[in-house]
Amino acid sequence: MNELEHFFKNEEHRLIHKWNHYFEIYDRHLKHLKDRKINILEIGVCHGGSLQMWDFYFKGNAFVYGIDINPECKKLENENVQIFIGSQEDEQFLETIKRTIPKVDVLIDDGGHTMKQQVNTLKYLFDHVADDGIYICEDLHTSYWKSFGGGYKKKRSFIEFSKNFIDKIHAWHSPKISVDHFTRSTHSLHYYDSMLVIEKRKMTPPFDVKSGVACIADQSSKELQVKLK
Ligand SMILES: C[S@@+](CC[C@H](N)C(=O)[O-])C[C@H]1O[C@@H](n2cnc3c(N)ncnc32)[C@H](O)[C@@H]1O
Repeated sequence: MNELEHFFKNEEHRLIHKWNHYFEIYDRHLKHLKDRKINILEIGVCHGGSLQMWDFYFKGNAFVYGIDINPECKKLENENVQIFIGSQEDEQFLETIKRTIPKVDVLIDDGGHTMKQQVNTLKYLFDHVADDGIYICEDLHTSYWKSFGGGYKKKRSFIEFSKNFIDKIHAWHSPKISVDHFTRSTHSLHYYDSMLVIEKRKMTPPFDVKSGVACIADQSSKELQVKLK
């Protein structure tokens, strides 16, 4: 059991609502940040249970900015938590957030989970995650739910939108895909059931490398074929 699961199951805290397999994924992608002073932006505060969970996991080293549409959430502020009231669907609100808070090391989208909300948030806030930061979008199953604007293979679902990211990180290899800011700032995409974790890193054009002694004749190794004849 990792520390997040331990907190969830054994420590006293306000309500947290997560899928059971999320704890392993968080720990896998966040544990390297544990001893650093970091900023987190969590969209979807609700009862504030996850705010307490981050405080526990990062041993008080994390400052958490929360966003929620419910004004009641403002009550959950403390010396390590600042809450902004507004909708992740509202582009102007997201622009204000960008102007107000520093770039964050971790962004967790656990808000309303509609297609527009998830897509908008990524479009507006991806650049507001640090160059070596982590972007997490949760509850991707809503991409398959009509009530959230999703549907299997539906063009505007978050899943379909994010499939383009696979092309984007390969843009170096195709003249048909332009190398853009996403290509240059995304190290890897990690898809899990209902969760996408994007690990950012400054990327430069990839190159292949070789080392060791060739010992099998093949089409591309003419020199070796000559020797063997
Ligand atoms: C799943 S709960 C968050 C749970 C919390 N992260 C936790 O683990 O304890 C979702 C929250 O998103 C908020 N929400 C819904 N629509 C939103 C929107 N458009 N913008 C911001 N927050 C929204 C809801 O008010 C609710 O508090």
